[in-house]
Amino acid sequence: MHIPADWHETTERILGRASERPPTVMVVGAPDVGKSTFCAYLASRLHQAGLATAVADADIGQSSIGPPAAISGGLLSGPIASLAEVPDAVGYFVGAISPVGHLLACTVGTARVVQRLRALGAKAVVVDTSGLVHGSAGRALKEYKADLLQPTDTVVLQRREELAHLVRGWERSASRVHLLNASPAAVARLPGQRRSYRAQRFAAYFATAQPISLSLDRVYLRNTWLHGGKALAPDRLQALSEHVQMPVLYGEQHGEQTLAVVEGWPTASQRRTTLDGAPLTLWSSHRFSRLLCGLLDDQGFLVSMAILHHVDFTAGKLRLLAPPADLSRVRTVYLGRLLLQPNGTELAVLQPGDL
Ligand SMILES: Nc1ncnc2c1ncn2[C@@H]1O[C@H](COP(=O)(O)OP(=O)(O)O)[C@@H](O)[C@H]1O
Ligand SMILES: [Mg+2]
Repeated sequence: MHIPADWHETTERILGRASERPPTVMVVGAPDVGKSTFCAYLASRLHQAGLATAVADADIGQSSIGPPAAISGGLLSGPIASLAEVPDAVGYFVGAISPVGHLLACTVGTARVVQRLRALGAKAVVVDTSGLVHGSAGRALKEYKADLLQPTDTVVLQRREELAHLVRGWERSASRVHLLNASPAAVARLPGQRRSYRAQRFAAYFATAQPISLSLDRVYLRNTWLHGGKALAPDRLQALSEHVQMPVLYGEQHGEQTLAVVEGWPTASQRRTTLDGAPLTLWSSHRFSRLLCGLLDDQGFLVSMAILHHVDFTAGKLRLLAPPADLSRVRTVYLGRLLLQPNGTELAVLQPGDL
């Protein structure tokens, strides 16, 4: 690791104040400016100075800690050369590989992980973030994240003052702002390299995955309409099957709207139709196949990620693939928006409102 002079100076300034107030350091910048490398250096220095130090990794697309699609963090047990050495002790599921469309989950999740790291004993917390800094989504994400975290220090890595809009606001906040030049040693990654990096991390995560099943009546399905309404009785399913001329496996009532899951592939016009003048929505039972899910505990933290194979409506069970985990802690199954193979191949990205 090459340590530019301004990295060293900034780190010493943060350390100098650490005894007054436990530092929370948010590190921000465009892609490939050296954020994660700087975080590893800073966290190591804080640890060497005797502070219990943790890192939260909020870059869901290019995660260094834990699998992609989640915000993860852990405490250092020694100096590190790279964030990949930080244990994956806490995870908050987002279920997507870009924050766009998932700003709330990314913002709340980062704060929850930082809170948990403090509860685990961290005095200093370094927060690595994604490279999404442009456009209204990037701006909102970074501004609201800073609002929620109230970092003692904000480190901004820039090539050509491209984050001036964010800096202007933060310089008027209580956070100390440290402006650094983009790392001269930083190497840019092409989109294909980013995707294959993610594939590797997903594949490593699911390497030991086994088929598991969870009873639908034991868990809450989050981030979907499915299982949130009043289930239809068998005679109503029979009548619906005749109405849509497709086998209806399951259906439920949401106010005046009906949602039905059918065997097969309804056409676009069949998917949104009406029943006695009220809206009727049809979903293919294949809609859930290969969907990345988060199995969450009673505090909303990840017990494990899983890949949904299918929803077995007859048995009332979710059939999934997951690495070994304590399933008795699972209270919620959070449906993500990425269709994924266990080898890490990304098949499709669903829209936030799709399920
Ligand atoms: N100071 C440095 N010394 C050595 N390699 C670096 C340095 N800064 C960045 N790199 C390399 O450049 C690439 C991008 O850096 P990274 O820290 O991952 O950027 P970011 O997190 O901003 O996307 C990585 O391969 C990293 O190892
Ligand atoms: Mg990074």
